[in-house]
Amino acid sequence: MTVIDKPDTKTIPTFHGGLANLDREHSYWLTDVEGTVPSDLEGTFYRNGPGRQRIGNTPYGHWFDGDGMLSVFSIAEGKVHFANRYVRTPKYIKETAKQKICYRGFGTQIPGGTIRNVGRMPGNPSNTNLVYHGGKLLTLYEGGHPFHVDATTLETHGEYDFEGKLKRNMVMSAHGHFHGPTGDWFNFGAGSMGFGKNGPKMCFNIFRIDKQGKMSDFGQLPIGHFPFAHDFGLSNKYGIFFINSITMGPISEVMLGRRSISEGVKFDDDIPMQIALVDLNTLQEVRRFQTDPGAIIHFGNCFEDGDEVVVDAMHSDQFEANEALSDVFNAKRLRGGEYRRYRLNVKTGQLSFEVMSPTNAEFPTFNQNMAGRPNHTTFSAVSVENGHDSFFNGIQRVAFDGNIQLNTLDPGYFGSEPLFAPSKDSAADDDGYILEVVYNGYDHNSSLQIFKATNITEPVATLTLRHHLPHQFHGFWHDKVMLNDAR
Ligand SMILES: [Fe+2]
Repeated sequence: MTVIDKPDTKTIPTFHGGLANLDREHSYWLTDVEGTVPSDLEGTFYRNGPGRQRIGNTPYGHWFDGDGMLSVFSIAEGKVHFANRYVRTPKYIKETAKQKICYRGFGTQIPGGTIRNVGRMPGNPSNTNLVYHGGKLLTLYEGGHPFHVDATTLETHGEYDFEGKLKRNMVMSAHGHFHGPTGDWFNFGAGSMGFGKNGPKMCFNIFRIDKQGKMSDFGQLPIGHFPFAHDFGLSNKYGIFFINSITMGPISEVMLGRRSISEGVKFDDDIPMQIALVDLNTLQEVRRFQTDPGAIIHFGNCFEDGDEVVVDAMHSDQFEANEALSDVFNAKRLRGGEYRRYRLNVKTGQLSFEVMSPTNAEFPTFNQNMAGRPNHTTFSAVSVENGHDSFFNGIQRVAFDGNIQLNTLDPGYFGSEPLFAPSKDSAADDDGYILEVVYNGYDHNSSLQIFKATNITEPVATLTLRHHLPHQFHGFWHDKVMLNDAR
């Protein structure tokens, strides 16, 4: 008998299998369990991301355009329930009925040429993130309004505009942040504040949502050019906006139907990155910094340290990922950014940073109980070169003292955004668990892996689904079991 030490490299699956549609909606208890689900972990792990990348036989023109599908893991008393449900956006409803592309997207054009696209705004797949705040579960997409989804049944109630305060011409990003001292939720969106002699004056609209879910304050930050605007940092005193070097191109070409938004996106080496600090009490800018061209796609925790604001951020000096994601069925390796910890001196205007990890990383997560306070530990997804087409294929734990734990998956397995879930009665900032969905390309199925946050080298439990979960974007932890089916 021949003993095979390692699999034939030609048979190692790529991450592309994880782009297959999951059209069916499920609700069941997970029974394929290795290890033990911790008894002090209780709550709901909501995730959002594109559940389908094709409609009929036609693929969307960009990974960002697949329809939003919630994946929900309810965890209590050592058991886990799974359910998935699409957000019933107008785009989802119409395209499901017609089985063809009816809406433009970030990188998708309606088939049929310019005439079919002229004057049409991109649809809203509501596929990027979600939040439970003020008694409502909202799904989020940076090119439109949130959608209100019932947190207990996953039924879609419809587009949500905060009692009319989020105007029709405004958008809200997929990355809001909780304010530690008040529990308010801040978010922003790219917009305009009137017209100047060079056309629309671009700005970031900044929204403050109080604990009751009411939009209680609104501000505008002038930004000069129209960057890719995905995320921002939040400390106790400041909103921290990195105005990056990724430009969106002239919107007129998009409106004339000649190209998608994605086709105009480029990283411009001639545009320095600016950083604006906005006072949260006034929503007015108080200090601006300038540094080398770059972009921050996702932020971790931010806090004040004397005169300095400390900002955890994933830095990129290119945006190759956009090209890969616009041809995602043929994409090779997707890299992450560089995990940096910036220090911005509010008094002197000085800026410095240190690189926190040598490994390409994205999707930082930390104990939300530490939002705005010095936290000891940050976790993220990593992309490690292993000789095969790869996606995010591991996680890392980076302690404030520089100690790093890395857990990489074998070739053929692909990870996702990890999420920190505090344990019941969590005391220390790493007193909790890391939750991660892993796609197994060999068996074409997915698992929920649960790690103790103090040691991410081995999962304490792995629960395998009856099917695959398409690669998704972002998740949210709620410390109660919310779904009716899981009670
Ligand atoms: Fe994101």
